[in-house]
Amino acid sequence: MSRLVIVANRVPDPKETGAVAGGLAVALKDALAKRDALWFGWSGKTAAETGTTPQEAKVGQTAYARIDLGHDDYRHYYQGFSNAALWPVLHYRLGVARFDRLDWFAYQRVNAAFAAALLPLLRPDDTIWIHDFHLFLLAKELRALGCRQRIGFFLHVPFPPRAVFTGLPHAHDVLAAMDAIDAIGVQTEDDAENLRGALISHGHAGAALRVGAFPIGIDATGFANLAARIATQKEVTRLRDSLAGRSLAIGVDRLDYTKGLPQRIAGFGALLTRFPKHRGKITFLQVAPVSRGDVAQYRALRRELDESVGRINGQMAEPDWAPIRYITRAVARPTLAGFMRMARIGIVTPLRDGMNLVAKEFVAAQDPGDPGVLVLSRFAGAALELDGALLVNPLDPDDIAEALDVAMEMPADERLDRWTRMAATVRTNTAAIWCRRFLAALEGEEEVAEAGR
Ligand code: G6P
Repeated sequence: MSRLVIVANRVPDPKETGAVAGGLAVALKDALAKRDALWFGWSGKTAAETGTTPQEAKVGQTAYARIDLGHDDYRHYYQGFSNAALWPVLHYRLGVARFDRLDWFAYQRVNAAFAAALLPLLRPDDTIWIHDFHLFLLAKELRALGCRQRIGFFLHVPFPPRAVFTGLPHAHDVLAAMDAIDAIGVQTEDDAENLRGALISHGHAGAALRVGAFPIGIDATGFANLAARIATQKEVTRLRDSLAGRSLAIGVDRLDYTKGLPQRIAGFGALLTRFPKHRGKITFLQVAPVSRGDVAQYRALRRELDESVGRINGQMAEPDWAPIRYITRAVARPTLAGFMRMARIGIVTPLRDGMNLVAKEFVAAQDPGDPGVLVLSRFAGAALELDGALLVNPLDPDDIAEALDVAMEMPADERLDRWTRMAATVRTNTAAIWCRRFLAALEGEEEVAEAGR
C-alpha cells in the first residue's frame, strides 16, 4: 500500500510522551497502524525564520518532519489569518474577525513554505492528506511545484453559507485553490452544501463535485475502556468524594469564543435561579484549558468568564457548596474520561462546531448501567448524529437552564433509552470508519459526493 502523508498545521513532537495522542493522531490511529506514514507540519515552536529543512524523526512505521515558524509568520499566519480571520469567519462570526493584508501575505507565504519543504520528501506513489483551515492553499502550492500525487483535504471546522464566507478578504483565492484538490471532505451535509454553493458561485464547479461529507468519529471502545479503567484512580475518586453525593455536570472545551461558554455559565446560573430546588444538589465542573491565549479575542473571553463565574459563585454559593468549579489548566485525557463517566450531565453547547468530539466522548465514557444525559447544541455537527441528546439553542441561557432541569429530573429508564441510541451511533461511526471512508473516496474511483453519504 502506498505511503500516507498527513499534513497539519500542528504536529506535536513524537518523542514527548502523550504528544502523539493529540486529537488528529487518535483519529488516524487505525490508518497509521496499517501503512507507512509521514506526518508533516509545524513543530509548535518559533524561530527567527520559518524553517526550510524539516527536523525529521521516526517512530515505528511513522516518520515525522516538522518545521519551526518564523516569529513574523507565527504572528501573521497563525495568530493573524488563521486564528483572527479564518477561524471566526468559518464559525459564522464575521463581527469577531480581524483582517490585515500582512496576515494574508503571511498565509500565502507559509502555505508556499510548507509546499517547498514537503516536496523533496515526497515519493511518486504517496497519497497526501491535508488537514484543516490553516492550509487551504497548500495543494495549489504543491501543484505549482510539479506535485502529481493524489491530494485530499479535510476541513475539521464548519463551512458557513456563501454570504458569510465572502466577508473574508481573499475568499475567492481560498476557493480557487481548491481546484488543486482531488477530494474535499467536510463534517456535515450542511457544510458540504455551503462549500459547494460558494465554489459554484465563484466559477469552480469542478471542485464542487469533489466535496463530500465525512463526519468524524472517535475510538469509542478505547475511550469507554479508558473511562471504566480510570474510575478508581486518585484524581477521579477525589472528585467523587468532594461532591458529597451531589450530581456532577461537566463541560470540557478549549477556552474559545465559539464554545458558548458565557451563555453556558449564564444558563447554569439561570437553572439555580429559576429552579431553586437544584441549589446545593448539583455542581458544575467546567474544564476550559487556555488556548491561543495571545490572540486578543481569546484574552477578552477569559476576562469575561473569570468575572461571570466569580459573580455566580459569589451570589449562589453556600459555605459548603460552590455551584461552579472552573479550571483553565489542561487536565489529562484519561482523568477527563473518568470525570465524564461520573457526571450525571454533559454540557456541550458550542455556538458553532464542525463536529465536537467531546459530545461523542461523553457518550462513550458513560457507565451503561447508569448513564448520564447529554445537553447538546443544535449547532454542533454532532447534533445531527446524537438524537438521544437534549438539543438546545446555545445562544439562549434559558433554553440551557430548562434542559438542565429536564436532565436533573430524567428517570433512569429514559436516560438509558436515550444513551443506548447515542452509544450505538458513536460505536458505529468511529474514527477508523471515518478515515477509511475518506481514503476510499480519495484513492478509489467512487464520486466523492457519493462516498460521503
Ligand atoms: C481546532 C482546530 C485544529 C486545531 C485545534 C487546536 O480543533 O480544528 O486545527 O489544531 O483547534 O488549536 P491550536 O490553534 O492550538 O492548534
